[in-house]
Amino acid sequence: MQLSSRIKGLEESQTLALNRLAKAMIAEGQSVVNLTAGELDFATPDEAKDAAVKAIRDGLTTYTPTAGYDGLRWAVASKLARENKLVYSSDEVMTTAGAKQGLYELMAVLFDPGDEVLVPTPAWVSYEEQMRVLGIKPVFAPTDKKFHIDVKAMAAAIGPKTRGILLNSPNNPTGAMESAESLRKLAALAVKKKLWVISDEIYERISFGTPHISIASLGDDIKRQTIVVGGASKSLAMTGWRLGYMAGPAHVIKAVTAFQSHASGNPSSISQAAAAAGLEKCAPFVKSMLKELAARRAFLLKAFGGVKALRAHPPEGAFYLFVDVSRVDKDSVAFAQDLLKNAGVAVVPGKYFRHDGWVRLSFATSMANLKSAVKRIADYCK
Ligand SMILES: Cc1ncc(COP(=O)(O)O)c(C=O)c1O
Repeated sequence: MQLSSRIKGLEESQTLALNRLAKAMIAEGQSVVNLTAGELDFATPDEAKDAAVKAIRDGLTTYTPTAGYDGLRWAVASKLARENKLVYSSDEVMTTAGAKQGLYELMAVLFDPGDEVLVPTPAWVSYEEQMRVLGIKPVFAPTDKKFHIDVKAMAAAIGPKTRGILLNSPNNPTGAMESAESLRKLAALAVKKKLWVISDEIYERISFGTPHISIASLGDDIKRQTIVVGGASKSLAMTGWRLGYMAGPAHVIKAVTAFQSHASGNPSSISQAAAAAGLEKCAPFVKSMLKELAARRAFLLKAFGGVKALRAHPPEGAFYLFVDVSRVDKDSVAFAQDLLKNAGVAVVPGKYFRHDGWVRLSFATSMANLKSAVKRIADYCK
């Protein structure tokens, strides 16, 4: 029996696969430091957990409106106004089972098969696969030496079928964050060429001094054709709760809600209650998490400064360190496999992000793990 042609060639997310391999080696008793994780090693804040327990006890266990219950949509809208200079009414906001689901639904709602969407690279692995399943063609636009978008290169890549841009700042895997100046140029291009902008801002609260700017905050013209995507996973240590959100023009939110009503319905009612409390009450959690992440980042940059064969790129945001390993091995998959087998450190090959010769290390793990990993990597490179 045949599977659909749509699904041919689609593999499980390669970052998840490597994570699983590292976990299997650990289960066999091997010593592995796993730096592949895309999630924080902090517990979900108590305020969110307590709200979830209360929701269960109070019977918030039935379907909610597909877009999420009003209290949560209001909490998202007020967070966006307070922290991101983005003013949306609650019918311009909806919630999803993670930002990943939101991104997929948006692509289905905004683009037709055969349409092209510009994706600056390096880029998170799922954009490409989501597009391919929907018959959308990703057009990759390399970023500059510091991994910032190159608006001229993006303009040059626009053709008659280009319908959108996928922007990700702070970026996974590089941690690059876009400046107001380049976002303004990109916004002007998007408006001139009538392109949708999907702005994946899932890491927006995790920045090391560089201010996060949402492209949608740069004027009414660009806001009208931008959908901002975010969620609780990364900034509130709530990956398993699956709670994402998006904000954009009411007619887009209405269409995505209709799609979601048939595809999956509302995100978990319990997770909605937890996320609302998280968005409203967890600023101290975010602050202390950022302090810890900044210390780990500083440690890694200093430690890699002493490893001659490698070059680490200082991330402006998110919790990943992108490292040039091309002097050891130009093939990042071979490097990652060999490092895992011989040094017991799991990293993600840059090839998966369309940037070979580099690997991604997650510093969402303890300082003790990072110290051990750096020592193993330095010894391996010798
Ligand atoms: C760039 C990027 N966007 C979106 C997501 C999805 O996050 P969520 O857990 O909200 O689905 C991730 C998760 O790794 C990510 O790295």
